[in-house]
Amino acid sequence: MYYEKMDAFPKGFLWGSASAAYQIEGAWNEDGKGASVWDHFTKIPGKTYKGTSGDVAVDHYHRYKEDVALMKEMGLKAYRFSIAWSRIFPHGKGEMNEKGLQFYEALIDELLYHEIEPIVTLYHWDLPQALQDAYGGWESRQIIDDFNHYCVTLFHRLKGKVKYWVTLNEQNVFITHGYEQAKHPPGVTDRKRMYEANHIANLANAKAIASFRKIIPEGKIGPSFAYGPAYPYSSHPMDVLAAENADEFNNYWWLDVYCRGEYPASVWKYLQERGLEPTMKEGDEAVLKAGRPDFMGVNFYQTATFTASPLDENFTGAVNDNHDGKKGNFVEGGIPGVFKRKRNASLETTDWDWEIDPVGLRIGLRRMTSRYGLPVLVTENGLGAFDHVEESGVIHDDYRIDYLRKHIVQLQGAITDGVDLMGYCTWSFTDLLSWLNGYQKRYGFVYINQDESENKDMKRMKKKSFDWYKTVIETNGEELN
Ligand code: BG6
Repeated sequence: MYYEKMDAFPKGFLWGSASAAYQIEGAWNEDGKGASVWDHFTKIPGKTYKGTSGDVAVDHYHRYKEDVALMKEMGLKAYRFSIAWSRIFPHGKGEMNEKGLQFYEALIDELLYHEIEPIVTLYHWDLPQALQDAYGGWESRQIIDDFNHYCVTLFHRLKGKVKYWVTLNEQNVFITHGYEQAKHPPGVTDRKRMYEANHIANLANAKAIASFRKIIPEGKIGPSFAYGPAYPYSSHPMDVLAAENADEFNNYWWLDVYCRGEYPASVWKYLQERGLEPTMKEGDEAVLKAGRPDFMGVNFYQTATFTASPLDENFTGAVNDNHDGKKGNFVEGGIPGVFKRKRNASLETTDWDWEIDPVGLRIGLRRMTSRYGLPVLVTENGLGAFDHVEESGVIHDDYRIDYLRKHIVQLQGAITDGVDLMGYCTWSFTDLLSWLNGYQKRYGFVYINQDESENKDMKRMKKKSFDWYKTVIETNGEELN
């Protein structure tokens, strides 16, 4: 839709930015913290770009006051960060580590002091290694109660301070990467195990939301989903059907469960006929249905385009193997007989071959609104790019400004279309560790002096985009140039 005049961003719109514990904190074994699966996985040769890990990350654990001061200077309204489960419960359960909790309380107090709304993610992939060792992590139903206990502990301690909560970050990513593609821990390639682990994660998510309702009834909670709306490659009905298939398998398989408490019928039937469907026990459906969130968190980076795929095609699910930033590594992939992902020729790509599609964000928000009728919070959106520090110390990241501006314009379009949008968190505030792509894939408004070869002094330097976003916030999205 085109409009003569677009609606303004609502009053109180959460202009924010986001991060995750493993990607910024460092201090991986300090103050009683237990090891997480990522602390182990990154030490396996060949798993991450140049063997990078979050052992030190960008040292936010020790420099959080400096980082929050920069957020204040920018005028950030909200900051989304995650809590490392293994800081609170070093063994995943059992005795609580008071020092771990104190770190997050201090961070939250600092944010509140500067009038920045904390948005707390309960799980951003760093499962305590002890639970992986004890019962296989997400593959055992024991995790449902352990996750719930961890969440309830935080709800009780932080209620009154934290209103906005995110349960699981990108369950669709950590489950598919962990159990189908072996790119994330625990490094499994088994679709049956993937669907089982995913169902257990769904139950854990729903149970945590139900607990939240009792403890913080006035708060808002929801999962964050890595949403890549599907497009047909052409108007040929078989391509349109392939895109439908992709939406059902890649998006609604998760979103329908979160928002409606049920799996989409066509995918369920497909899996059942192949013996891949998850085990649904008595009572599961009721648990899922009781877990409807207050909002859906959307992490948006790209859309995906699909064509029909014959049954005898031979490929796996992985489509992006570019972890070094050398463009041109896009590989077609999908499920034979269901869909095949194609490069969308009308879209530019990042250096990591991610397709840039601001309008796709609006399309996604529209689809989500029509299908589920829930408010939406954009919990991540940003550009991973190489940044260059000039001799003068200036970082001209105009490409990042351009990327964010175009997405914000589409947010305004979505609001005008009728989407109930609570806020927008860019990814990320400072540069940070990109799980599989090292430190050179930078996302922040604040440059961190550090690279894959050494940690350097980790000096914080404002990029050009810092002042640009400051103005966007000051003018509530009116001044984007
Ligand atoms: C999301 C994650 O998938 O995308 C973040 O929630 C991640 O943790 C971000 O960093 C960007 O992905 P990448 O692979 O470029 O770091």
